[in-house]
Amino acid sequence: MADELIVTTDLSKEEKYKELYPQIFALIQGEDDLIASLSNMMSALKHSFGWLWVGVYFVKNSELVLGPFQGPIACTRIQLGRGVSGTSWHKKETIIVPNVDEFPDHIICNAASKSEIVIPVFNKNGEVALILDVDSNQLNDFNEIDQKYLTQIIQLVVPLL
Ligand code: SME
Repeated sequence: MADELIVTTDLSKEEKYKELYPQIFALIQGEDDLIASLSNMMSALKHSFGWLWVGVYFVKNSELVLGPFQGPIACTRIQLGRGVSGTSWHKKETIIVPNVDEFPDHIICNAASKSEIVIPVFNKNGEVALILDVDSNQLNDFNEIDQKYLTQIIQLVVPLL
């Protein structure tokens, strides 16, 4: 495992993901603990991209419960169908929100959040086991490149579910 994350400045978004992916892979390779792996993954994402908030929520019974994250304190529990994350869980699909003020029922955990991407992660039974939630303090900060690479990255923990 590397001691320090390599983050090269002045790279395009896609180049940043290409630099980051093998580092995250190496970070969690050989580690079979889900929380430990997610914790380092969230740290690597936060430090590479500098987003406001990067974290996961676990599906527990009938709600989402806060898991490993990096950033300001956040809502602890979110109900099915509520907010962007609860909607992503309910619809079982990735949601990109260019402007959170225009998303009906957006849950304000931090007023600085302006745009957001939420990606559901499925267990072997095809049920949503957790969601990855990334918030930016910039409007329109996420697109299909983030969807592609963040999905690949968060998929790395599926064998640990
Ligand atoms: N804004 C989210 C809530 C979670 S956080 O932003 C950390 C939502 O509407 O689901």
